[in-house]
Amino acid sequence: MALQEKVEQNVGLLIVLVLLVASVGGLVQIVPLFFQKSTTEPVQGLQPYTALQLTGRDIYIREGCYTCHSQMIRPFRAETERYGHYSVAGEFVYDRPFQWGSKRTGPDLARVGGRYSDDWHRVHMINPRDVVPESMMPGYPWLQDTPADPFHIRDKMNVLRILGHPYTDEQIEAAPKELGGKTEMDAMIAYLQVLGINIKTRR
Ligand code: HEC
Repeated sequence: MALQEKVEQNVGLLIVLVLLVASVGGLVQIVPLFFQKSTTEPVQGLQPYTALQLTGRDIYIREGCYTCHSQMIRPFRAETERYGHYSVAGEFVYDRPFQWGSKRTGPDLARVGGRYSDDWHRVHMINPRDVVPESMMPGYPWLQDTPADPFHIRDKMNVLRILGHPYTDEQIEAAPKELGGKTEMDAMIAYLQVLGINIKTRR
């Protein structure tokens, strides 16, 4: 009996061989990623988020800002003209989970850091129409009145350190104090102001 027939008539053997072939194909694609430095090495100047920025990032996720905003500039002229240098993997080493996305009801925010003043963000966040009359972004006025949560920040930073974010003991120790007297608005703005600032753009 030819080998082909033997395999086709023996379901058990067929399953084993299919699994074998599929896993070889999978390993060939997956294993090199573990050794590809460009995806795991931070770009020059990239720092893990400070306690305040990290808190802002969590509020960004809680409030669902990602449902309207992506944080990834694709390497196309139309995108780089508008937003600046395209995004590279090394910018997101300390983003867990990353906020790339493809849903752009609002503009991409990957390089919004430094584009506006803190005051602009404050006014915009409370009621976007006060600075952009045609905006359909909702306001988030409660961020202004809600204190930033100092109770969980050490745990969050400890977990991130286990995952490889280079926080020092001193940074984690000082974290709740860094949040003292700050509002969620302060945290959000601190976060927005560092987005994408490590790669120079033409804007
Ligand atoms: C319903 C969709 C929607 C949601 C949700 C949303 N936005 Fe927006 N956002 C927009 C739109 C549309 C614009 C463009 C008009 C404007 O500037 O207000 C915008 C603009 C912005 C800008 C200015 C970007 C630029 O380059 O001009 C920032 C910053 C921003 N949003 C942050 C946030 C944050 C932070 C959140 C969550 C707290 C959020 N947005 C939630 C739709 C949204």
